[in-house]
Amino acid sequence: MSDSDSHVTIHMVASLDGFIARKDGRVDWLETSDEFVGGDTMDQGLVETFLKTIDCYVMGSRTYETALRFEAQGFGWAYGDKPTFVLSSRELPRIRDTVEFYSGDLTQFVNERLRRSFRSIWFVGGGVVSSECLRLGLADEVRYSIVPILIGDGISFFERLHKDIALHLAEVKAYKSGMVELRYEVRGRRDESRKVQSPEIGNRIVARHG
Ligand SMILES: NC(=O)c1ccc[n+]([C@@H]2O[C@H](COP(=O)([O-])OP(=O)(O)OC[C@H]3O[C@@H](n4cnc5c(N)ncnc54)[C@H](OP(=O)(O)O)[C@@H]3O)[C@@H](O)[C@H]2O)c1
Repeated sequence: MSDSDSHVTIHMVASLDGFIARKDGRVDWLETSDEFVGGDTMDQGLVETFLKTIDCYVMGSRTYETALRFEAQGFGWAYGDKPTFVLSSRELPRIRDTVEFYSGDLTQFVNERLRRSFRSIWFVGGGVVSSECLRLGLADEVRYSIVPILIGDGISFFERLHKDIALHLAEVKAYKSGMVELRYEVRGRRDESRKVQSPEIGNRIVARHG
């Protein structure tokens, strides 16, 4: 595959004040009881179809550890049978064949390994890894799903960027659950104009954990 066909997305679900987890890692606040009357409803079939378009996932070790905890608690594995790359310098348990570990230069890994093999590459957290991805200019788009809650403190969606990242707002969707999904293209990327419509992905991926 030509690496110009590939697309790197960062996606997470956050509180309105920009946190992806409490300081201790809890995400109990993801489930809210809000109802936005004018919002769209989630179509399960569309979500399933959209998830099939994702070719691989990339995550930081702390996000992986959360996923391991959720699985141990019986909530399942949110990433299906898709290749899942975990960034870590530590020895972590490998709980399934689809999981692979990587440590080192993220630019090299994304451009020379992932972009050559996968079309739709999803970075699914956490804050450290999403910032690293943006800081290094590796992301094509950012999908930010806002849950209708303020939690005051926690782990930020974007940790320590040290520079501005100009974005183009490409899509906005509001759902009956009160979640708002924003899709931004990172300006200056070669495939900025590409448009991919999505159903309520954030809720789905995180709700499997929550
Ligand atoms: N709300 C949401 O949608 C959402 C999504 C994802 C995660 N979360 C939450 O966010 C929290 C985790 O986020 P976080 O920002 O603390 O951590 P993170 O981004 O998940 O993981 C950061 C760690 O990944 C490893 N790493 C990063 N880049 C690396 C590289 N190039 N090479 C080798 N290792 C690398 C390092 O750990 P090592 O020490 O292992 O090297 C680093 O400390 C969890 O509580 C999780 O539940 C929420």
